[in-house]
Amino acid sequence: APRVFSGIQPSGGLTLGNYLGAIKRFVSMQDEAYETIYCMVDLHAITAKFLEPDVLRRNTRELAAGFIASGISPEKSILINQSQVPEHAQLAWIFNCVARMGWMGRMTQWKDKAGKNAEAASLGLFAYPALMAADILIYHATHVPVGEDQKQHLELTRDIAAKFNHDYGVDFFPLTEPVIEGAATRVMSLRDGSKKMSKSDPSDASRINMTDDADAIAKKIRKAKTDPDALPSDPEGLKDRPEARNLVNIYAGLSEQTVAEVLSEVGGQQFGTFKPRLADLAVAKLAPISSEMARLMGEPDEIDRILARGAEQAREITAPILKKTYDIIGMVG
Ligand code: TYM
Repeated sequence: APRVFSGIQPSGGLTLGNYLGAIKRFVSMQDEAYETIYCMVDLHAITAKFLEPDVLRRNTRELAAGFIASGISPEKSILINQSQVPEHAQLAWIFNCVARMGWMGRMTQWKDKAGKNAEAASLGLFAYPALMAADILIYHATHVPVGEDQKQHLELTRDIAAKFNHDYGVDFFPLTEPVIEGAATRVMSLRDGSKKMSKSDPSDASRINMTDDADAIAKKIRKAKTDPDALPSDPEGLKDRPEARNLVNIYAGLSEQTVAEVLSEVGGQQFGTFKPRLADLAVAKLAPISSEMARLMGEPDEIDRILARGAEQAREITAPILKKTYDIIGMVG
């Protein structure tokens, strides 16, 4: 069966971008003919800046709660925390020796995150995509649902698999397919239509958090940046209107319609009419998830049990693949 892997960093709370760009697709793939493995990537979360241990612990459990509350079932999917499955980091070391410095240096996320002061960035931040390739390939996963911003990392994953296979003369690691689909693969900031919605943006008004209450959601949407024109009746009309396009994409993602379908309903409306409608939709979709998250956060032992069981199931897949990798390389053992 085709196997799906994807991960999210517990570096902060979940945003609407994570939900529409990734988690919604995780849930639908779980219910299709795939074997699905979903991961909180805590080893990745410490690459960018120092996180207080209590904060990392809380974020990891909250992310697990977010997955489950959104419809990821521990009965249907394997749900894991990265550091609890040691083969991820072990394969990452091998990939550090396969990937080239030049490949890593071309990653736009590295360039964005390291900024002008690469000297001060962690070595882990530079090696980040090799760990990500290991996350995927330690399962021989074939499909990886992600938002648009992860596309380059997935191309690198294919390059790493191909070089390993070529160097050792094997056909061992699959070339993974990115799954980047739907109206909301790149949700933008509510304050600036040229910036991605992100959990690390200093302005909380720029994003909708999965834990925001109804008032906060309505207020952020009401204040979202827009232009003064009415909504067009077909997608062409959104071309040079990034903020308008973003709100329509969000509506489409939440209502599971295409952009054309949404515009056939709301074309001609002013934002004064459309925004409250979008806010109602967002609250209707997100409130049940955030209340279920809050309930699960009251039962951290239950979350830890789910993750421990997930790690056990995962290791049945990862241990033999690591063993085989070591054999191919010529490691004695
Ligand atoms: P992360 O934690 O930044 O984001 C998790 C997922 O959410 C998507 N996403 C968005 N989609 C649409 N609009 C947005 N504004 C938006 N913001 C985030 C991301 O594309 C991603 O799918 N490197 C990954 C984590 C990772 C991973 C992996 C993913 C580690 N190992 C293996 C897939 C497979 C990351 O930083 O995602």
